[in-house]
Amino acid sequence: MPRFVYLDHHATTPCDPRVVEAMLPWFTERPGNAASRQHRRGQQACAAVETAREHVAALIGGSPKEVVFTSGATEALNLAIKGAAGAGPPGRRRLWASAIEHPAVLDPARSLAREGFELELMPVGEAGRVEPEWLRGRLGEDALLVALMAANNEIGTLQPLGPVAAMAREAGALFLVDAVQAVGKVPFDVGASGADLVALSAHKIAGPKGVGCLWVRRGQPRVRLRPLIDGGGQERGLRSGTLDVSGIVGFGEAARLARLEGSDDARRMARLRDRLLAGLMAALDGVSVNGSLEDRLPNNLNVAFCGVEASRLLEGLDDVDLSSGSACSTASLEPSHVLRALGRTDDVILSSVRFGLGRGTTESDIDFALERVIAGVRALRG
Ligand SMILES: Cc1ncc(COP(=O)(O)O)c(C=O)c1O
Repeated sequence: MPRFVYLDHHATTPCDPRVVEAMLPWFTERPGNAASRQHRRGQQACAAVETAREHVAALIGGSPKEVVFTSGATEALNLAIKGAAGAGPPGRRRLWASAIEHPAVLDPARSLAREGFELELMPVGEAGRVEPEWLRGRLGEDALLVALMAANNEIGTLQPLGPVAAMAREAGALFLVDAVQAVGKVPFDVGASGADLVALSAHKIAGPKGVGCLWVRRGQPRVRLRPLIDGGGQERGLRSGTLDVSGIVGFGEAARLARLEGSDDARRMARLRDRLLAGLMAALDGVSVNGSLEDRLPNNLNVAFCGVEASRLLEGLDDVDLSSGSACSTASLEPSHVLRALGRTDDVILSSVRFGLGRGTTESDIDFALERVIAGVRALRG
């Protein structure tokens, strides 16, 4: 087979073969609906879902009772934001989100703003981090929710969750954390984060696509959400619909593996990421890193190649998969709102490339990608 190197693991990462193996019987041999408690096959499915719930909860230091399975993080974030607005006290009509949130946060928040809620975006500095003090004096009795991602999907920057959580709590607002890119890569604990709501996605941790969850803190003060989907009352009424047993089993296995192996994977990815950056810097002039190098995911590198149109560079690389500084989350080729929020010019944004390493990335993959990218940049500059 011709060689290719996949370095777009922030978009999605391949399912671990152990995950696929765990999922397979639930498609065929074990057909039960997890809600069919009267018979053995249903009970087996229900037990498998509950085991997966325990693994997912353990990965983030939560309780299984707090995990609501969804079709992915986009749904979980919509449930958190629209659900909080639907169930919140009438006087709480203001929301905050960092300017570099994923569209799965920004778009539902904007949709609420069209319905009369007020949305304010928290700016980030050049390093791509919010300044918690910016919120001081802004959060009042009308504060409904503050959303801040644990790690950014384009530039990998890690956010100061604790201080923001403390301010949100003081004002009686909910604190929502999109932890999709952080879990399995950096230590993430729901208690330490101070979150009330946390969204996760299976396919970013070597699980299947189309499964995720919203972690909803239990205890006082109670987190109230209005469901987006009504029906059979599954997931404690917060997410009706027949559970995707095979997908949830896969999510559980991916979470179990991430808990066991995540920190070793992260160390290896950070070393390879540093090798990649050093290789680019040694071979090319005009390479600048977008975002902080310190407070950053171990598997992320985002660099601008001065004078090079990233989309053309990527088009020319048929054996290395990367993504560019245009919006990565949609099919659109708009300049990235994340890089724009860092104050980058359009030229820099359009010359930016994101490298996302994964569990399976090897040193030889990095060297291969380096060779191709360096040659591509030189050709375009030449
Ligand atoms: C930071 C972040 N949040 C949310 C999502 C959406 O996740 P899902 O694909 O599970 O809907 C993604 C995926 O691209 C992401 O990177």
